[in-house]
Amino acid sequence: MAKAWQIWADEPQAEGTLVKRAKKELPQMESTKQLVRILRPLYKPGMRVMDVGCNTGHYLRGILKLDENVRYTGVDAYAHYINQAKKIYRDFPNVQFHVKDVFKPLFPKNPADITYCCNVILHLPEFRAPLKNILASTTKVSIVRTLISDRATIVKAVEGDEFESNGEPKRFVYQNTYTPGMVRNFAKTLGWNAEFIEDEYNPKVLASEFGKLKANTGTNILGGRQVDANIIFNWKFIRLTRRG
Ligand SMILES: C[S@@+](CC[C@H](N)C(=O)[O-])C[C@H]1O[C@@H](n2cnc3c(N)ncnc32)[C@H](O)[C@@H]1O
Repeated sequence: MAKAWQIWADEPQAEGTLVKRAKKELPQMESTKQLVRILRPLYKPGMRVMDVGCNTGHYLRGILKLDENVRYTGVDAYAHYINQAKKIYRDFPNVQFHVKDVFKPLFPKNPADITYCCNVILHLPEFRAPLKNILASTTKVSIVRTLISDRATIVKAVEGDEFESNGEPKRFVYQNTYTPGMVRNFAKTLGWNAEFIEDEYNPKVLASEFGKLKANTGTNILGGRQVDANIIFNWKFIRLTRRG
């Protein structure tokens, strides 16, 4: 039985635009474009790349611009996304998709050179176990995009209008923000350095997608900052590399 925060478990439509992006029916997300820019100097042909929380594999469209023969593995906790991804990319021999929960070990015996996990960790109840599992399946560099700010906040964005008698929402989405220090210190205990990279996005694209594609839900722009309903989204990319 899915937990109250696991909205992707039984709402495959929760990320409706992503399947269209994977099929090239919609353009790449702004975060895909920046991820590709970050990976370009790090990637060398022959390297293995793993996308954690890949949904229907839409980031792969951007990664294929780095190398059309990229050795790519996408993992996501939910089979309905992975099955769609397998169908969309069935003609790509170097591409694999697997159902994997980031709270459990991924591929520690068969790690990837480069891993990335974008827009996932903010939605999980905590970041430490997922980050540990991602790094345990990475040999060189991992890129994580999540919410980072000077103050950590654990946020439950309520879905629907039903509550338990103790006041907990019956369904919600975590939109958690952590501080740079929390991530840096935890990464250090695992033997990794964490560097923070400013999120670059085109506010016009996000604002127009909010209206046109997302029917006035999801991330919008207010005063030049990204917001989702009541919450400011302080996105950062984190580059994690092994300590020397
Ligand atoms: C907001 S979507 C982001 C999808 C994609 N990474 C992107 O940036 O567009 C969150 C994704 O994380 C996946 N996910 C949620 N919990 C997960 C878990 N415990 N392990 C692996 N994937 C998970 C969801 O199924 C969903 O595809």
